[in-house]
Amino acid sequence: MYDKIRNDELQDIINKLPGSLFSRHVYCFFSIESTNVYAKELAKSGAAEGSLVIAERQTRGQGRMGRPWHSPSCSNLLFSIIFRPPFSIDRAFSLTMIAALAVVDAINKITGLSALIKWPNDVFFNNKKVAGILTEFSAKRKNIEYVVVGIGLNVNWDISNEPELKHVATSLINETGRPVSRLDLLATIFEFLEEYYELLLKGQEELVYKRWNDFSMVIGKEALINSTGKRIKAKVKRIDRNGALVIEDETGKESSVVCGDLEVLFPSLTPAQR
Ligand code: BTN
Repeated sequence: MYDKIRNDELQDIINKLPGSLFSRHVYCFFSIESTNVYAKELAKSGAAEGSLVIAERQTRGQGRMGRPWHSPSCSNLLFSIIFRPPFSIDRAFSLTMIAALAVVDAINKITGLSALIKWPNDVFFNNKKVAGILTEFSAKRKNIEYVVVGIGLNVNWDISNEPELKHVATSLINETGRPVSRLDLLATIFEFLEEYYELLLKGQEELVYKRWNDFSMVIGKEALINSTGKRIKAKVKRIDRNGALVIEDETGKESSVVCGDLEVLFPSLTPAQR
């Protein structure tokens, strides 16, 4: 059903990865339906924490809310990681937080670009999406059994040739004007991710929470929020500990949005660019 790796480049990247929690159990594919789908199957059959599923190509890459995730072969990073944190489900969002922070920090360290986080699960640069995170989990009696964190990061894909996407998405090659090493990027993401995960395990989520808010591109902004079939215009005040968006409507009333999507209202942007 799945093509085990038959392209040297990704296998070479995996072979050169420095030791980390995420390089001990690696499942590397040339083509796969979705690394998240495979990682969930592995997690259900008892795979160890830190297991990594990585592919050059997905035939049915998944985004949030049933959307597809598009990526050409052999130019980006597409991977999923299994976590088994000893947390209750109300802390599951902290895994999305550390994934976004690790991606932002790695982009900054490798390319010098200052990317930002867009609630709930996107990494943006120049008001365009450069990475998306899909977090899925299973729980028993409110305790997490596993969390699968899937990351799609546009690295060396020239999106300026994609008329449908070029106004809403970008890649590191488009922003820096030069190819970026996927090995360096992946190794650096893992380095930061492990550090952040250790903070969570030590109960220092306050540090993670603060840093995530520091990198948020939505706090203090006017936004259109799509949630449970409604569209609300409001100001974003903060993100709470569970990842809910705390907003203030035009009457000054505060409320929380647990699940949804958001369009930051920049006066100069067209709807397609938000
Ligand atoms: C989103 O922006 O809605 C989330 C996109 C997540 C895409 C990644 S690519 C690797 C992993 N496998 C998937 O099928 N999805 C995630």
